[in-house]
Amino acid sequence: MNYKDYIAIVPDWPKKGIQFKDITPLMDNGKVFKSAIDEIVAFAREKNVDLVVGPEARGFIVGCPVAYALGVGFAPVRKEGKLPREVIRVEYGLEYGKDTLTMHKDAIKPGQRVLIIDDLLATGGTMGASIKLVEQLGGIVVGLAFLVELTYLNGREKLKGYDVLTLMQY
Ligand code: PRP
Repeated sequence: MNYKDYIAIVPDWPKKGIQFKDITPLMDNGKVFKSAIDEIVAFAREKNVDLVVGPEARGFIVGCPVAYALGVGFAPVRKEGKLPREVIRVEYGLEYGKDTLTMHKDAIKPGQRVLIIDDLLATGGTMGASIKLVEQLGGIVVGLAFLVELTYLNGREKLKGYDVLTLMQY
């Protein structure tokens, strides 16, 4: 499957100089979306995953169907002020900006094997912060999966030592 045929590249969005990779054409094609999810599920099956974690908002879109297919739970990583109960926080740098990510304190049971999923790896800031949250809660990060990797932003350098799957690279 050539997934890149289903990514719309939007010049100068949301800022001048950024070539935004829009995954919605991939998502709204049932066959292509299923194939992408199935590839991540195959990667996950070898890892005895207990829980899938995904950062908002597009990490939910990719992470939830994978969790469902594996028959495991899904725990969200959310921006500050979105989760209603007690949270832990990690600050992170974005491709364009800075923010805080949070998880519920009881989202992970210590020792659980966690697969973290997002739509896109850019600078690795979001995934780096998500890893910290999972590990602070006692989870074991057994893999990281993305649809898209922007290799020129070197996000993988922040993810050294982890098993990373990306379905397409730019
Ligand atoms: C985008 C994308 C990843 C992250 C990648 O999310 O969905 O989560 O940026 O960038 P990084 O590797 O440099 O951290 P965004 O923060 O725009 O949030 P959204 O999905 O809620 O729009």
